Amino acid sequence: MGSGQWIMEKRSSLRNDSFSRDNDNVPETGCLSIIVLGASGDLAKKKTFPALFNLYRQGFLQSNEVHIFGYARTKISDDELRNRIRGYLINDKSAPGQSEQVSEFLQLIKYVSGSYDTEEGFQLLDKEISAHESSKNSLEGSSRRLFYFALPPSVYPSVSRMIKKCCMNRSDLGGWTRIVVEKPFGKDLDSSEKLSAQIGELFEEPQIYRIDHYLGKELVQNLLVLRFANRMFLPLWNRDNIDNVQIVFREDFGTEGRGGYFDEYGIIRDIIQNHLLQVLCLVAMEKPVSLKPEHIRDEKVKVLQSVLPIKERRLFLDNMMATGTIQQFLTTQTPQLLPLRFCAYIMKDGRVSLLY
Ligand SMILES: NC(=O)c1ccc[n+]([C@@H]2O[C@H](COP(=O)([O-])OP(=O)(O)OC[C@H]3O[C@@H](n4cnc5c(N)ncnc54)[C@H](OP(=O)(O)O)[C@@H]3O)[C@@H](O)[C@H]2O)c1
Repeated sequence: MGSGQWIMEKRSSLRNDSFSRDNDNVPETGCLSIIVLGASGDLAKKKTFPALFNLYRQGFLQSNEVHIFGYARTKISDDELRNRIRGYLINDKSAPGQSEQVSEFLQLIKYVSGSYDTEEGFQLLDKEISAHESSKNSLEGSSRRLFYFALPPSVYPSVSRMIKKCCMNRSDLGGWTRIVVEKPFGKDLDSSEKLSAQIGELFEEPQIYRIDHYLGKELVQNLLVLRFANRMFLPLWNRDNIDNVQIVFREDFGTEGRGGYFDEYGIIRDIIQNHLLQVLCLVAMEKPVSLKPEHIRDEKVKVLQSVLPIKERRLFLDNMMATGTIQQFLTTQTPQLLPLRFCAYIMKDGRVSLLY
């Protein structure tokens, strides 16, 4: 970095070529179990369960083939978990039939309590999942198990080990076991590499899904369509026609339960390194060969490789409603250094924002 060059590391745990999925041609007929680990937490109630409910509402999850398990250490009953999340599911109280749908959906949820580093809890979880699979007469080996880690990354390794030891789908008759891990994936390159290596020892790359829920936002999703499926924008979206790009992140609410998470990881690391870099990639990348995840990833990587590290301290932080004057803010804050070239800052409504 000191030389102004990116250091490219070869990551043995990730395959470079398009991932071969051995089961691609085997029809998926078995029942689906979605296990939300850390079900008692903030992310689970605010994002994960509501997202599952939306899939259910739109018919992507069928009640005759899916079952959802919540798992965490907190000792609560099925009904207590359901009551915790119920209020987060209804986003449009006036929508006809929604409260019945919520009740039906909640009946699909069962809660299992256990620790993250001992076998007892995961054996119990496996028993519950297997009971559900048998009740659906799912052919052995055809069932699908999706483990969603709504957990602090510090427990990912032990949870991965326990899943591998106690909860894997038994065979591959169209069935599978997959894990979904939320960003942030570690705190820096070292911890990220370490986490990748630990999880990579236990699961094949196609079984691991690293997710940034921000990319599910409609506006972000629409960027690809706007850019590459729109004949007006496609030929115009380049440096000859665009003078500058501003990516402005604004939230009109407070930390809302994320205080501990921000204290631990930092809002800059959370928002910029994850969400906004992804948006930057979607805005700046070339058209991918196809919409396959690996092809989109390859184009994003090219964008990141093209970004020059900043050399001088000229970055100002967002996240401040200026109570005094902007000038006072700019002169008193210590500018932070990030591995990106931020061109300038902009001021709007008394708020300072980053300009890429
Ligand atoms: N909340 C958000 O908006 C948000 C946004 C982006 C990403 N994330 C990421 O999503 C994941 C979950 O976030 P969250 O906000 O839901 O976290 P959280 O509420 O702090 O933790 C989720 C659950 O994990 C268990 N847990 C918490 N701290 C633990 C520890 N030190 N050791 C073992 N178990 C612990 C707790 O369940 P039990 O005590 O019942 O076991 C807790 O209910 C994290 O990786 C976070 O970085 C969260």
